[in-house]
Amino acid sequence: MSARKGICCVDMDYSVIKPIETPIPADRQGARRHYGVHPYFTRRPFNVVRRYIERYTSAGDTVLDPFGGSGVTAIEAYLAGRNAIHNDLNPLANFIAQGIVNLEQGTVRDLKTALGEVRASCQKRVEAIHTENPSFIDEKFKPLLPPNIRLPRTSDVEFYFDLFTPRQLISLALIKQAIGQLEDASARNAMLVAWSATLAKLNKTFLSAEGRAASRGGSSIFSIYRYKVAKKPVELPPWQTFEERAQNIIAAKVEIDRIVTFQIANGAWNGGFSVYQNDIDALASKLRNKTDYIFTDPPYGGHISYLDLSTLWNNWLGELPDQEACDQELIVGGEKDHSRGTVHTAAKRQHSRVFADAQEGKVDVRRVSALEYCLF
Ligand SMILES: C[S@@+](CC[C@H](N)C(=O)[O-])C[C@H]1O[C@@H](n2cnc3c(N)ncnc32)[C@H](O)[C@@H]1O
Repeated sequence: MSARKGICCVDMDYSVIKPIETPIPADRQGARRHYGVHPYFTRRPFNVVRRYIERYTSAGDTVLDPFGGSGVTAIEAYLAGRNAIHNDLNPLANFIAQGIVNLEQGTVRDLKTALGEVRASCQKRVEAIHTENPSFIDEKFKPLLPPNIRLPRTSDVEFYFDLFTPRQLISLALIKQAIGQLEDASARNAMLVAWSATLAKLNKTFLSAEGRAASRGGSSIFSIYRYKVAKKPVELPPWQTFEERAQNIIAAKVEIDRIVTFQIANGAWNGGFSVYQNDIDALASKLRNKTDYIFTDPPYGGHISYLDLSTLWNNWLGELPDQEACDQELIVGGEKDHSRGTVHTAAKRQHSRVFADAQEGKVDVRRVSALEYCLF
């Protein structure tokens, strides 16, 4: 269907493609480093997604994930030389997905230089603050902090700042300020992803499991899906925690460079990547007849409010979604008490609209994978 410059696209006859009928074991152990650079909710195993994309599309086809999350579908499609379209209502999801794809820009040396500059600019101050352990935030740091907004009702604490100790807030602010001063835009964005991943570990919802290293702990945001302040919060050393996340980013760049170099050497790789931040209703009309294949993972049970749970990041990144976006979020359960069926019917209707040639409710399941288990 689609034909992009430099790529020969074969029109797929979906009626002759054999469905994938045997289970594909999820490759979590060997998960690619680049997906590990930042946590997100309910991430799909990349190797399963990849198999579906390869089975149902050719190089140059357009692959859409309308509920893209942290971007596994679109990133796999992009790295496989497809034209990937990623969409999510949640700014944090798009920040992570775009941040990983952007690692393709610049060089590993650029990232190492950027980390060196951040280190020179703030490591000593951050370590000194950690040792001093102040009991309040000095006025001079306040302009560096995000707004102290009210948290969702299910949180253990009322306000955003209550999620942190003073030294955590000040350290995060100092590191972010140093990153903001980097001149190289792609290295700055990469370091910001590392900083944002650090935020997941430097707050009072973080706790360690007994018998494990403190840094191997996790946040209640990802385990019980709410801001529960740990009875015995673990305070990791801020600079070291950031430095480890930054080293992860550098390792992820090495890996992405290797994949792209391999693809280019083996054919006319020309992956494309675009990001939308739309409710699926709006997205469907924009993408009418522009998509060859959808692979998606719509919101499901467990009452996960992705937007509320992402406030920790969206507030400090200056990307808090407005009320309209919050009202559009599809949550199974939640305040609107949507059933699983309601959410999936909404998703199905919009997928029919993307494939304008398909009558409503009669989307070819081979063109919408993953949904086939839950919708049809
Ligand atoms: C199950 S998660 C997807 C996770 C993804 N498969 C991954 O591997 O990271 C569902 C996503 O749907 C998004 N979402 C919820 N309501 C939406 C809406 N109305 N329009 C677009 N995205 C929405 C959520 O923000 C969430 O990221």
